[in-house]
Amino acid sequence: MRGEPVEDSGKLGALLDRYRGQPGALIPLLQDIQREMGYLPRPALEEAARALGLPAVKVYGVATFYAQFHLKPRGRHVCRVCLGTACHVRGGERILSRVSADLGIAPGDTTPDRAFTLERVACLGACGLSPAMMVDDQTFGRLTPDKASRLLRRFAREAPDGGGGGGRTAE
Ligand code: FES
Repeated sequence: MRGEPVEDSGKLGALLDRYRGQPGALIPLLQDIQREMGYLPRPALEEAARALGLPAVKVYGVATFYAQFHLKPRGRHVCRVCLGTACHVRGGERILSRVSADLGIAPGDTTPDRAFTLERVACLGACGLSPAMMVDDQTFGRLTPDKASRLLRRFAREAPDGGGGGGRTAE
């Protein structure tokens, strides 16, 4: 665990200085580190613990408890495939299998080029469109494995943040 370099120690140092000696500022500090670095690298968590005067186990506990925090790098696109009840009975597993095979990663992982992170979720709130998945802020419904593949290829061609549709729903 020790000895891993912090990827950008200059930026991290500035963030640590902002909250140094303030154990009550753990969550704002973690939010700032994640905003700056994209995720929470282990060395950064250890440095955060030292700066705040908290046990490392406490910092890890908070970082792993809240879903908003990510301890692994995230992709430029986040693909969330729904396996809630409505999507499950309409073939959500087949969608997830195809997406997982296309990306070459398991749910929870990120492609080596950091283009995509794949997640499985319990419900996207679009049950009437099941099976459904989200890519970034866009929801896609009535999917087939082939449709899901085409969507992934489309997002792979897009520049980061170049295809944001403001949360529109597509079929
Ligand atoms: S169960 Fe999939 S959107 Fe609700």
